[in-house]
Amino acid sequence: MTDLVVYDASQVATPTDDGEMVTVQDGAVAIEDGVVTAIGSTESVTRNYPPEDAMNAIDAAGKTVLPGFVDPHTHAVFAGDRADEYTAKLEGADYQDILAEGGGILRTVRATRDASRDQLVENLLVQLDVMLAHGTTTAEVKSGYGLDVETEVKMLEAIDEAADRHPVDVVPTFMGAHAVPEDADTDEYVDRVVEEQLPVVAKNDLAEFCDVFCEAGVFSVEHSRKVLEAGREHGLTPKIHADEFERLGGSQLAADIEATSADHLLQSTEADITALGEANVTPVLLPGTAFSLATDYADASAFEAADVPVAIATDFNPNCYSQSMEFTIDLACNGMRMTPAAAVRGATVTAAKAIDRTDGTGTLQEGAPGDLVVADVPDYQHLPYNFGVQNVQTVVKHGEVVHR
Ligand code: NIG
Ligand code: FE
Repeated sequence: MTDLVVYDASQVATPTDDGEMVTVQDGAVAIEDGVVTAIGSTESVTRNYPPEDAMNAIDAAGKTVLPGFVDPHTHAVFAGDRADEYTAKLEGADYQDILAEGGGILRTVRATRDASRDQLVENLLVQLDVMLAHGTTTAEVKSGYGLDVETEVKMLEAIDEAADRHPVDVVPTFMGAHAVPEDADTDEYVDRVVEEQLPVVAKNDLAEFCDVFCEAGVFSVEHSRKVLEAGREHGLTPKIHADEFERLGGSQLAADIEATSADHLLQSTEADITALGEANVTPVLLPGTAFSLATDYADASAFEAADVPVAIATDFNPNCYSQSMEFTIDLACNGMRMTPAAAVRGATVTAAKAIDRTDGTGTLQEGAPGDLVVADVPDYQHLPYNFGVQNVQTVVKHGEVVHR
């Protein structure tokens, strides 16, 4: 039996695998056994899938149907918050100085070490609810506020349990190399990540990806290479935070080791962008981070000029406190001058590629997972045009309405 028919939509809009944007006016989508089985005009879809015969039907008159959003970069599991640091930054404090003085990531590390696994699960479930309400149906979540084996494992177990209990598909990433803890120097800590943390994470199958913060004052390119190569030996696919504040060469490393994604990229040069494109590394731009730090944005036009499609992500974390892919689309357009079509692609099909989900996730093509959003706007262009409000109304995961 058909799970769901969404019909009479003002517009159904979906990128295809190759990045084209397909739109159907007065459109419909049918989902069977959790998978998209038809997309097209309401007339053609409902002929084969009459709404009255489906388990569930949504009249989407006046609304737009899009693939569920994919958020390919979050640090959504943690304890505490850093609202006061946001105020301090607005008054002129610097993100890297705060970290160097034991605040920032290290402050969240202290709070997360003190939290129980159950508390972390509850915290993450709350965050996943907010993400879902704003249209996210698949999200990557990183560890990295433990910086010791117990807490890194506790975070990844919390991710696993929250994922089991929540409709959002969660992709776990191990990020022991997120900062250097106060009781070690960098060389020593990299050894701990490689020799103590990675083997336990891999043995217990707790993560799919391994990520590292390749940045001045944090992990050098050599340190990052060591962590990511060790991760790969343990079966974890590399990702990297690269070229955010300084151009250390993290994107060149990403290209060299064929990472799945390289993220941030504010300082990347034309040569870096070409290298990423040639190595098939998906760039992930994080406009919320620039917004929360009140700095310049990554240069999306340079990626466009090089014909390298970018993903966008929230980077949700205690420094960049927004769970919303809707708002990320707004910022991609306003802050990075991306077109609405490019931003929607970045939030769906290209985002899926950034976390190795190439089964149609992020599209509404036949055979794709039945994940979609119904937004109260007449076409996809209106999504960023009507910025700063919640346009997403209904969210469907595997053919089931999971938020309305
Ligand atoms: O991607 N840059 C490193 N990691 C996060 C920030 C984490 C934090 O400040 O807690 C990021 O922006
Ligand atoms: Fe990050």
